[in-house]
Amino acid sequence: IRVLSVASEIAPLVKTGGLADVTGALPHALEAVDVEMRTLVPGYPQILSACDPGPPLMEEADLFGGPARVRPAKAGDLRLLVLEAPHLYDRDGTIYLAPDRSDWADNADRFAALSWIAARIGAEGAEGWQPDILHCHDWQAGLAPLYLRAMGAGDRVASVLTVHNIAFNGCSPGERRGDLRIPDWAWHSEGAEFWGQVSSLKAGLVYADRVTTVSPTYALELMTSEFGMGMEGVLRARRKAFCGILNGIDTDLWDPARDRDIAGRFKTPQGKLRNRDALLAEFGLEPGDGPLAVVVSRLTQQKGLDLLLEALPHFLDRGGRLALLGTGDAALEEAWRQAAARYRGVGVCIGYDEAMSHRMIAGGDAILVPSRFEPCGLTQLYGLRYGAIPVVALTGGLADTVIDANDAAQKAGVATGIQFAPVNALALSGALDRLIDLHADAAQWRRVQRNAMRHPVGWESSARQYADLYESMTTRR
Ligand code: ADP
Ligand code: GLC
Repeated sequence: IRVLSVASEIAPLVKTGGLADVTGALPHALEAVDVEMRTLVPGYPQILSACDPGPPLMEEADLFGGPARVRPAKAGDLRLLVLEAPHLYDRDGTIYLAPDRSDWADNADRFAALSWIAARIGAEGAEGWQPDILHCHDWQAGLAPLYLRAMGAGDRVASVLTVHNIAFNGCSPGERRGDLRIPDWAWHSEGAEFWGQVSSLKAGLVYADRVTTVSPTYALELMTSEFGMGMEGVLRARRKAFCGILNGIDTDLWDPARDRDIAGRFKTPQGKLRNRDALLAEFGLEPGDGPLAVVVSRLTQQKGLDLLLEALPHFLDRGGRLALLGTGDAALEEAWRQAAARYRGVGVCIGYDEAMSHRMIAGGDAILVPSRFEPCGLTQLYGLRYGAIPVVALTGGLADTVIDANDAAQKAGVATGIQFAPVNALALSGALDRLIDLHADAAQWRRVQRNAMRHPVGWESSARQYADLYESMTTRR
């Protein structure tokens, strides 16, 4: 089966979050189950400078305001189709934000362009490479299934939309529907229209043959008004074509026995100690008896780290310490800087640093993920693999990947972490109390660490599920 993955970011070339990890890992994971995946990505400077694209295999004279061409490229073992369109992608700032941190004003056009070209590759092939399926990621690729139908290829080439985060719905003013090439037949409340606006995410939810999200629990949550952010009705209407497939992590990149970024490589929980000492020193924290918790996260409302600020004093009083690495909303960054200045047991690094994220997870006794919602979450998976016990909100993928150390799970010997609900500061504080108590019981703690490190977090089982999904879509035709 040939699949064109359509993505606005891909690790290791360009990344703002877990989406890139997933689009970067899927091609390799799927190779093992006989799926040939190529990825269409925008020609940002970061991508063009990291690979050496070949001669153009598709051109367009006016792609949303300027000329564009698609060129093939290899980056490591990733096979890319790079959409070169300097008027849309060749600029300073981040891939979504201008230097003043506001969204690029033309984001809707930038990613409609990506979706348009994806649909053209579906409809026409690219120099003999004809995908059977378009696999579209998030709102940035949401218009591709609609365009594919508009080009008359919707019955030959199937499409899947994966929702990584429903919070971003890709909305533009309704008047722009002509510019965004929305056909009249799709302009209604059961099509691409969302309360008078064009929503590229909704277009994908409606017109893709199948819709997936990144964990089974988030799939259920998305069909409720509490989590669906207005899209719950659309998803309920599509429930037969909608499912959750859990993300994995790249277990070569995240392997404590071979990780070159950490102070001491390890295979057993005891081996973490050197990394812990190194991390304490790096953050200027004093050693003590309680657990060292870490956070590696975007600093946004989603991640619930304001709740952690509230729960912090009690955790510190009981001997806990905390090291945080993160960047994002200015107000949260400032609040965390202040916490570091105020409490001796807290170290904070505001920034984005991959190597440091490895050192944190290797050195941490626990990793905290108190998210208000979390489609899958990857850092708790890194935590499991590195024996940093996840303390997580009972939501989305966090609910699906961690086994709470309640009495039953401990008696059965299967616990891997701690979960809490509802997601508020009081329940989080209770979870941190449980963490301190568990950590103080050396035998139980070791056991939970060992369970965590043994828990399967790779792509094997999910790659199989994607392959089955693709297969069911091609045989149905
Ligand atoms: P989300 O995609 O919502 O941000 P995930 O947990 O799925 O959440 O993925 C986040 C990814 O970004 C992980 O690979 C995580 O290690 C990484 N990450 C987040 N913040 C930082 C940071 N400040 N420094 C380094 N890596 C980070
Ligand atoms: C999104 C979600 C995160 C998920 C990631 C990759 O960014 O917030 O939970 O792990 O996508 O699917």
